Amino acid sequence: MAERAPVKLGVLISGTGTNLQAIIDALERGELRAEIRVVISNRPGVPGLERARRHGIATRVIEHRRFATREDFDRALVEALGEDGVELVVCAGFMRLLSPVMLAAFPDRVMNIHPALLPAFPGVHAQKAALEHGVRFTGCTVFFVREGVDDGPIIAQAAVPVMPGDDEESLSERIRAQEHRIYPWSIQLFQEGRLTIEGRTVRIADFPAGDESLALLNPRSPHSPRMKRPH
Ligand code: GRF
Repeated sequence: MAERAPVKLGVLISGTGTNLQAIIDALERGELRAEIRVVISNRPGVPGLERARRHGIATRVIEHRRFATREDFDRALVEALGEDGVELVVCAGFMRLLSPVMLAAFPDRVMNIHPALLPAFPGVHAQKAALEHGVRFTGCTVFFVREGVDDGPIIAQAAVPVMPGDDEESLSERIRAQEHRIYPWSIQLFQEGRLTIEGRTVRIADFPAGDESLALLNPRSPHSPRMKRPH
């Protein structure tokens, strides 16, 4: 079978861009067959733009506040992404809600990542909400963007334990490390043409095999095999 062409990405950011960096790193390690055509920020001067420039990637700043409506802003984004020949839009810490204008221009072609195990804790401050709720696990979710907030068919999730003494920062850091693994991998699955959406469910062709040992316990039970000490 002929190898599929690298997928052309447009990455949307608003800030630090560590997920953008993880995608760039995966590209450079040869783990991701993609080309970042453009990085667009809705805020000028953010560190993510500098990361892109350091790697010779084209950048644009399209400030949302210059547009009267969300739709007008999205039209400008769509135009720019079109000019750059983008096939898949990757939101990476992009702090704007997308309107139907964008979703119609890139149907099932917009991904996002959220720092919680959706549908738990959508919206901002997801890590704080998880801590306040007292969950033992939270994590991160890569999904195809739909109109609702952090709603949409789920591609990949990573579960992360909440540890005693965690604060928002320590928990966010633990989650971020997993974001950096599952986002490039999700994009690679897309590139390979392995994702199909059926209703709310994303089917993955040749789903990597797992078994019940993937179950995680937090705290671990003393009866869990990994806790047993040799006699
Ligand atoms: C991440 O926590 C991501 O889940 C959320 O925004 C944050 C972006 O971080 N959507 P960065 O800019 O990629 O470092």
